[in-house]
Amino acid sequence: MELKNKTALVTGGGVRLGRAFALALAKEGVNLIIHYNSSEGPAEETAQIARSLGVKAISLGANFSNLDAVEDLFPQANQHFSAVDILINNAAIYLKGTGLETDRETWEKQFQINLQAPFMLIQAFARQLPSDSKGRVLNIADAQIAKHQIDHFAYQLTKHSLAEMTRMFAKELAPRIIVNALALGIMLPLAGKEDVDLQAYAEKHVPLNRTGNPKIAAENALHLIKSDFTTGAILRVDGGQYL
Ligand SMILES: NC(=O)c1ccc[n+]([C@@H]2O[C@H](COP(=O)([O-])OP(=O)(O)OC[C@H]3O[C@@H](n4cnc5c(N)ncnc54)[C@H](OP(=O)(O)O)[C@@H]3O)[C@@H](O)[C@H]2O)c1
Repeated sequence: MELKNKTALVTGGGVRLGRAFALALAKEGVNLIIHYNSSEGPAEETAQIARSLGVKAISLGANFSNLDAVEDLFPQANQHFSAVDILINNAAIYLKGTGLETDRETWEKQFQINLQAPFMLIQAFARQLPSDSKGRVLNIADAQIAKHQIDHFAYQLTKHSLAEMTRMFAKELAPRIIVNALALGIMLPLAGKEDVDLQAYAEKHVPLNRTGNPKIAAENALHLIKSDFTTGAILRVDGGQYL
């Protein structure tokens, strides 16, 4: 897909990996809707950087714990851009807890933000896309799903389901909309834990002896979004960690 003059909505696009995805698209000439939850300032700053690269960009807030806010996101986006061609489902939470520790509230919050919101956004995306336009959806999954790590039980299940949902929507929405997922390994330390020595961890646990970074994540995202003959793919970008 030629990206110039297309429009993308990136959830959680104001910070960290979401910002990297958004700005990689802006560098290709893609107009942006940067969604945020709490990071209004960084989202607007990301939009400003994108505008300085010559594209149109706005920021829009929505807390995905509120499904009405999820439902409002595309109608709001479409007030600024008549159609959105690319959706990146990047926003997610990472709640701790084994299967027995996961209470009802944790389960509901985890599934609502990581799975139900992407589901509703893909529906809304498909419905607003003009019938003669091609669309792209990229879901941000996690390479850890291969390992069944039980300490983030509900999170793991949401990312498993996101991968399955990618395949199911790829089949349902073809040929007009291509749907892929990026299953990431370690790209960044957890927010608030930036002082953790990930390199030492990587040398022990990652076959390629290193972590990834936002640039690597964004390069692979662009590859999948540009692709015209790959759909339903889960591209693992993890240095071989989960082999
Ligand atoms: N970082 C890694 O190494 C890594 C590894 C594997 C997979 N991933 C996946 O890659 C994606 C991005 O990772 P990251 O580390 O950049 O994530 P992050 O720092 O945890 O950021 C998550 C994003 O989700 C948004 N968000 C959180 N709660 C929300 C809510 N209630 N409603 C709407 N949005 C909400 C945040 O928006 P605000 O800041 O505006 O609140 C933020 O932009 C995630 O899907 C993650 O699972 C990351």
